[in-house]
Amino acid sequence: MSSKILVIGACGQIGTELTTKLRELHGTDNVIASDINTRNLELVNAGPFEILDAKNFNAIKDCCVNHEIDTIYLMAALLSATGEKYPMEAWDLNMNSLFHVLNLAKTGQIKKVFWPSSIAVFGPTTPRENTPQHTICEPTTVYGITKQVGERWCEYYHEKYGVDVRSIRYPGIISHKAMPGGGTTDYAVEIYHEAIKEGKYECFLSEDTSLPMMFMDDAIKATTDLMAAPSESISIRSSYNLSAISFTPKDIFESIKAEMPEFTITYQPDFRQAIADSWPSSIDDSVARKDWNWSHDFDLDTMTKEMLSQLKKKYTA
Ligand code: SER
Repeated sequence: MSSKILVIGACGQIGTELTTKLRELHGTDNVIASDINTRNLELVNAGPFEILDAKNFNAIKDCCVNHEIDTIYLMAALLSATGEKYPMEAWDLNMNSLFHVLNLAKTGQIKKVFWPSSIAVFGPTTPRENTPQHTICEPTTVYGITKQVGERWCEYYHEKYGVDVRSIRYPGIISHKAMPGGGTTDYAVEIYHEAIKEGKYECFLSEDTSLPMMFMDDAIKATTDLMAAPSESISIRSSYNLSAISFTPKDIFESIKAEMPEFTITYQPDFRQAIADSWPSSIDDSVARKDWNWSHDFDLDTMTKEMLSQLKKKYTA
């Protein structure tokens, strides 16, 4: 029997493309998209959609009962930069939505859960290069704290209640469909849009700030592969390190400039610089590679070519 899936936060940067992929894999009617509002009309009109507040347990429960849902992807969250502006809201949304979903899974009504963690679980005391799977996690952002605590609860619900929850520590994700919102790694998306629209970009991080990043297609592949893996092969129930590429604003600028020689950049670091400085520059994801055969396809230059060609089409349409 095909699973019935609910995506919470389906209008967001990752939710949008994840929903599309899940519908390809499981059939449009077997994937219910949901979000707090209808901000992404293309997604809203592409298949079954529900308005859903991820902070409302009864609303999630009713939606799951009505649609006979057995699998949830919980993609709703306030990210690192927004979380610093609205700490209590970030804590409220990020933690309560997770508890609601884990508690539903604990009753047996939901069989499988995906919940994303982030490189934001790491902090200034974490080894910066090739950050190991198991290491010091002393995050300094509210977002990072919610993800670190969330990881502990995921593992706890797996150990104590047998909940099949799976998670990835996403690096910065680069995509050309829905825009990211409120993250520190968002510059690596904005830069492509501004290159096409304006031919120039003012970057809010300094030129030598190296961060772990990944093209959306790789992030989606990782997510669906992890969810399809046999339960016995999953040795990490907190969250898997995952890595593809690491680059600085200067590296991405040069990659774009190779395609668009007129492109220029200036640097004006703001409060997000301190967040970026607290995160690793590269990640050791050997456990994910071993457990469920993770590997990435896109490097910086192949990603740049794809981003520029897709965005050119978008802006000339
Ligand atoms: N992309 C996220 C952020 O910058 C990290 O998970 O907040």
